[in-house]
Amino acid sequence: MPLGSLSDNDPVTSPHAAPRAPGSQVARSSALFDRARAVTPGGVNSPVRSFSAVGGTPRFIESAHGAYLRDVDGNEYVDLVCSWGPMLLGHAHPEVLAAVSAAVARGTSYGTPTRPEVELAEEIVARTPVERVRLVSSGTEATMSAIRLARGFTGRELVVKFAGCYHGHVDALLAEAGSGLATHAVPGTPGVPGASTAATLVLPYNDVEALRQVFAARGSEIACVITEAAPGNMGVVPPAPGFNAFLARTCTEHGALFVSDEVMTGFRVTRSGQHGLEGAIEGWAPDLLTFGKVMGGGFPAAAFGGRADVMALLSPEGPVYQAGTLSGNPVATTAGLTTLRLATDDVYAHLDKVSLLLQGAVASALDEAGVPHVVQSNGSMFSVFFTEPGVDAVRNFETATGQRLDRYAAFFHAMLDQGVYLPPSAFEAWFLSFAHDDAAVHRIVAALPAASDAAAAVPDRLDPERLSNAGAR
Ligand SMILES: Cc1ncc(COP(=O)(O)O)c(C=O)c1O
Repeated sequence: MPLGSLSDNDPVTSPHAAPRAPGSQVARSSALFDRARAVTPGGVNSPVRSFSAVGGTPRFIESAHGAYLRDVDGNEYVDLVCSWGPMLLGHAHPEVLAAVSAAVARGTSYGTPTRPEVELAEEIVARTPVERVRLVSSGTEATMSAIRLARGFTGRELVVKFAGCYHGHVDALLAEAGSGLATHAVPGTPGVPGASTAATLVLPYNDVEALRQVFAARGSEIACVITEAAPGNMGVVPPAPGFNAFLARTCTEHGALFVSDEVMTGFRVTRSGQHGLEGAIEGWAPDLLTFGKVMGGGFPAAAFGGRADVMALLSPEGPVYQAGTLSGNPVATTAGLTTLRLATDDVYAHLDKVSLLLQGAVASALDEAGVPHVVQSNGSMFSVFFTEPGVDAVRNFETATGQRLDRYAAFFHAMLDQGVYLPPSAFEAWFLSFAHDDAAVHRIVAALPAASDAAAAVPDRLDPERLSNAGAR
């Protein structure tokens, strides 16, 4: 039944209805999912939203305020996904909404330069080590363009990346490790030609020796090393102390560029991102950085920037082509600028405090239930790995993929049933917002014992095929 046929007074869809206690009432999400799958592959516009990693019905969200999501069945959830990172201040922040409404009323896109994009670029330059910045519409565009620029600047082709780091769906970066360190990578998905990944080398994360070897073998051919500034796409796996500095130094020694992908960490883990925790203190800077998520304030805005001499190669100043119809869109840049201006030191202090509190609560509940786990964090991002007994840290993709996905799925659903929306995949970070107050934290903490018991009740590894089919209904 199309949702449009429901009456405006329907107690479930009316915005004035009291929120329901979450549970098994997903009829409207389920009906929408059926309709979605008829017209969209997998029923979603980005794969992880489909719940295929945890099974069950993805919740179709109707509205969001502060720390809460409300679905089409009237269920309310504390949101620990925050749109995969962007919603640093919480949903529907009144000042962001007011600024966006005013911007919309002035027209939504002109295809000309505008004041907000200058001001957003100035804010980014003030907060980060970039000297000049170009605005784009997605993190994928930012990393793709940064790599093109690095290749254009160095006149070299090879790109080094790390297993488990995700940089968007750029052909050259959807690569898996080849058979040897200095051999080319293989495409990680059908549709990417071997030629696109032939110039990509994939190394284990946090492995200084692997990087040394690859530069010893092919240093003069390497255009750039790209890394997540602190990975969050295999779960949160912070860089070992000195790892990023080593990457920066090695690149400089060999005439390659160091590209630090701060799409996820930028303006989230500190006011100046991961660089604020490392390079800003130690006195080094990446040659290029990429940003997205928080800087768009919930709209499609992203950026790449860095050394002025490198950025000067970009068209129209230089010969490296890059462009975008909606780049620097006035509504998106207004949302991003307003968000960044509101993201003061107090905001980051609150986020860090809540993050620590929740990490401790999750760890205690899992300990209590006897569930082996590792909690790893980076400011207001953290993740819980349901590891095998004896694993005390996750430092790379290999260890991350060894975790008990079946236990995560059980934990996830028990939290969901109690009104807490976690990322529907074990390989994602949990994100907090400034709107996560005592009441939201209380609801999360209260849900942890039952969820931990649910994880503890999973006896053995499920057959991987069963797990991957669980969501394919
Ligand atoms: C580190 C990192 N880089 C790049 C991207 C791609 O960004 P987008 O999804 O906006 O294309 C992501 C997305 O999650 C990311 O986490």
